[in-house]
Amino acid sequence: MEKTPILPASDAGVTRAAELIRGGQLVAFPTETVYGLGGDATDDLAVARIFEAKGRPRFNPLIVHLPDLAAAERVAVFDDIARNVAQAFWPGPLTLVLPLRAGAGLSPLVTAGLSTVAIRVPAHPLARALLRAVGRPVAAPSANPSGRVSPTRAAHVLDGLSGRIAAVLDGGACAVGVESTILGLAGPPALLRPGGIPAEALEAALGQRLAIGGSAEKPSAPGQLASHYAPGAAVRLGAHAAETGEILVGFGPVKGDLSLSETGDMVEAAASLFHILREADALAGPAGRIAFAPVPDHGLGRAINDRLRRAAAPR
Ligand code: TXA
Ligand code: MG
Repeated sequence: MEKTPILPASDAGVTRAAELIRGGQLVAFPTETVYGLGGDATDDLAVARIFEAKGRPRFNPLIVHLPDLAAAERVAVFDDIARNVAQAFWPGPLTLVLPLRAGAGLSPLVTAGLSTVAIRVPAHPLARALLRAVGRPVAAPSANPSGRVSPTRAAHVLDGLSGRIAAVLDGGACAVGVESTILGLAGPPALLRPGGIPAEALEAALGQRLAIGGSAEKPSAPGQLASHYAPGAAVRLGAHAAETGEILVGFGPVKGDLSLSETGDMVEAAASLFHILREADALAGPAGRIAFAPVPDHGLGRAINDRLRRAAAPR
C-alpha cells in the first residue's frame, strides 16, 4: 500500500472515510479519547485486517462504536441500569460491556467469540458524523501498532501505521487523551479499565462500589497486559528529580524537561499524556531513560497511572 492519505475534517472527508469503511477498508478517525482504527464490525475480513494492521499478537475482543443509544440497543441487551448509565454518560468516554444481542450481525472476531460485547458512543463530532455515515457498527481499537503508545493526533497515527491503512480522518488533538473507561455490566458492575470517565463518577451514578476487573468472561486483552503503551526508552515512575541521563516529565510542583501539567491539572495531564510520552521518547533516544513525577491516584489520575505503570513495566 502507498503512503496513507489524510482526509480533512469536512463533509467530503467524512463521506470518503465512510465509503472506505463500507468497502471493507480501514480508516483511522478521531474520538475524544484517542484515534481509533475503524473497520466494519459486521465484516469478518475488515475486522481481520484490523488485527493484521496493528500486528496484534492475539484476537482480543474490540470495542464497537455506534452513533447513539438506539443503535447500541440493536447490538447489545440493555437493562435499566445499563440504560441509565448510558443516558448519563453517552456520548462520552465510557464503554459498556453487555450481553450480545442475538442476531446483531457482528463478526465473531469482534467479540472473540464471547457472549458479551463492548460498546461505546463517542462524543467527538467527527466520530459521530462518520458513524452515522457508515450506518453500521464500527470496530475501533486505538490506531497504533500493538503494544505501542496510543495516538492522540493524526500524525501519531501515520508514525505507526502509514502504508498499512486506507486513510486517516484528521480531527486535530484529542481532548481527553486516555482511552474510555470500561464498565462491565454483564454481571455485577465492574471496572474493567480505568479511563476518561472517573470511576468515582460511575460509582456515584450507580449508587454502589465497583468491583475491579473480574468479570466471569474477562478476556485477557492487550490493554490489560502488564507491558503496553511502551515507548522505546525505559520508564521510571514516582520521580521527584532526574537521575543522570534521564528525561524528567514533571507534574505540578515537580518541574521537568517536559510537564504533564505545570498547574497539576489532571484533565490537561490526561490530554497530553501520550503526546508527551512520544516527545520524551524522542528526547531520550533509543537507549534513553524517562522518569515521571508522581500523579495523584484519584479521578483521571487512576487512568493516567494505569497507562504509566504499563509503559514502565518490564518487557
Ligand atoms: O477510548 C477507547 O475506548 C478507544 C477509542 C478508539 O474509542 N478504543 C479502544 O478500543 O481502546 P480497544 O478495542 O483497544 O479496547 C479493547 C478493550 C480490551 O482490552 C478489553 O479490555 C475490552 O475492550 N473488551 C472488549 N470486549 C470485551 C468483552 N466482551 N468483555 C470484556 N472486555 C472487553
Ligand atoms: Mg490500545
